[in-house]
Amino acid sequence: MNFSKEIYIGPARSIEEEGSTLVFDFGSEGFERGFAIRIGGRIYAYRNWCPHMGLELDWVEGDFFDHSGQYVICSNHGALFDPASGKCIYGPCEGQTLKPLNIRIMDDGVWVTTYPHN
Ligand code: FES
Repeated sequence: MNFSKEIYIGPARSIEEEGSTLVFDFGSEGFERGFAIRIGGRIYAYRNWCPHMGLELDWVEGDFFDHSGQYVICSNHGALFDPASGKCIYGPCEGQTLKPLNIRIMDDGVWVTTYPHN
């Protein structure tokens, strides 16, 4: 039995440019927030939840990159994450990772696979 489901999070054109982001709600009650980012020509998606204190990463909605544009940053205490792996490479949660979400482009839309425990 498969409990996963795919949810549409936006048009593919909204995340075509390098460094663009897309925020979305997901989860069984829609209370979880996630974000998708394009970097290095690829799209990655994560739950918007910092492993340090369980807070959302962005103070300004959709603002996930540090000043260099190379790393995802948590606005709360400055943890830096590798955007491709989600691994914290600097900060209070160093070595921990963001929770990845599966993403795919289909019919010119961006879809995320979620599970009940998401
Ligand atoms: S809550 Fe993210 S670094 Fe502290």
